[in-house]
Amino acid sequence: MDEFVKNMPKIELHAHLNGSLSNSTLCKLIELKKKNQGSAEENMAFYHTFDADESLEKCFEKFKLAHDLVNSKEAVKLALCCVIDEFSKENVIYLEIRSAPRSTAFMSKEEYLQAVIDQIILCQESHPTIMVKYIPSINISYGTKEAEENYKLFYEFRNKYPDLICGMDLSGDPIKGKFSDVKKVFDQARADGFRFAIHCAESLDENEILEKLEFMASGDRIGHGTFIEESNTEIWNLFTSKHLPIELCLTSNVLCQSVKKYEDHHISRFIRKYPVMICTDDYGVFSTSLTRELKICVDVFGLTKSELIDLTVTANKYSFARPEERQLISDKIEAFKAEAVLD
Ligand code: IMP
Ligand code: ZN
Repeated sequence: MDEFVKNMPKIELHAHLNGSLSNSTLCKLIELKKKNQGSAEENMAFYHTFDADESLEKCFEKFKLAHDLVNSKEAVKLALCCVIDEFSKENVIYLEIRSAPRSTAFMSKEEYLQAVIDQIILCQESHPTIMVKYIPSINISYGTKEAEENYKLFYEFRNKYPDLICGMDLSGDPIKGKFSDVKKVFDQARADGFRFAIHCAESLDENEILEKLEFMASGDRIGHGTFIEESNTEIWNLFTSKHLPIELCLTSNVLCQSVKKYEDHHISRFIRKYPVMICTDDYGVFSTSLTRELKICVDVFGLTKSELIDLTVTANKYSFARPEERQLISDKIEAFKAEAVLD
């Protein structure tokens, strides 16, 4: 089974760039920063350490280290190149990478976005087996003005690179912002034709969950969905009426302690009944990989080889790629399936 999971074609739809920095990537970024800027924070252990009293809020502290290292165009490109390379090595054939642009002393937000795009274009040549798209993120904790400013840039870049920018993400610490702060921006983006991957129900805030679910429409995707439960009829009915797919990130939820252990994970509420996709969220921070997350599905939830393939088919169905691109990905999955010995 291990070999099968490793070799099968995979699709990653929920990965944050600066959460996906492996130790080897962090080392390269430290070297780059030392070379170009003289010194670099080297506290890598912090990035990977999870305490007994870990919380979602504490998890967010870890991104500061990554953000400190990824503070120039060169660093953005290096980070993205490493992430694409690592996903590609575990047979990910389609990747939607998300990231919120930041301005620093060494780059503007435009330069951040351009660096992401340029690197994806470069990687299309160096890594032809993986198709990569970019989902720009709105960070809920940065407030309304920042969201408006960033959206203007996303709009410009999307019009310039419509094949690479395929949707928009809403992420960030849910305790530090409300959907209502950025709702207008999302309404505008909807009118402009964006589709959405929205972190929703990561924490239990009923109104917030309802507002996000009300907003979401066919073609959008829910990130996490931890607190979408049958026991809350209003939320559950809204969720089931919309048929929205859910991006599930098992290790992320367990390590941030929004779920106590894998056995308790809400995947069991949705799998085999609703469309779900298995994702890594931040494989660097959580020391995981898509292969490992799929193996957990096998070991803890008894998924079969056919069901793993079905998960990839579902992910392809709900990706933000164009129909003809989805067909290409589908052909690859079918070719693997035709050769594989299934259960
Ligand atoms: P970046 O957008 O490439 O800088 O990736 C790191 C950022 O992703 C963090 O600063 C968070 O805002 C966001 N992020 C990563 N994981 C999560 C999550 O589980 N929930 C919400 N936001 C997240
Ligand atoms: Zn996430």
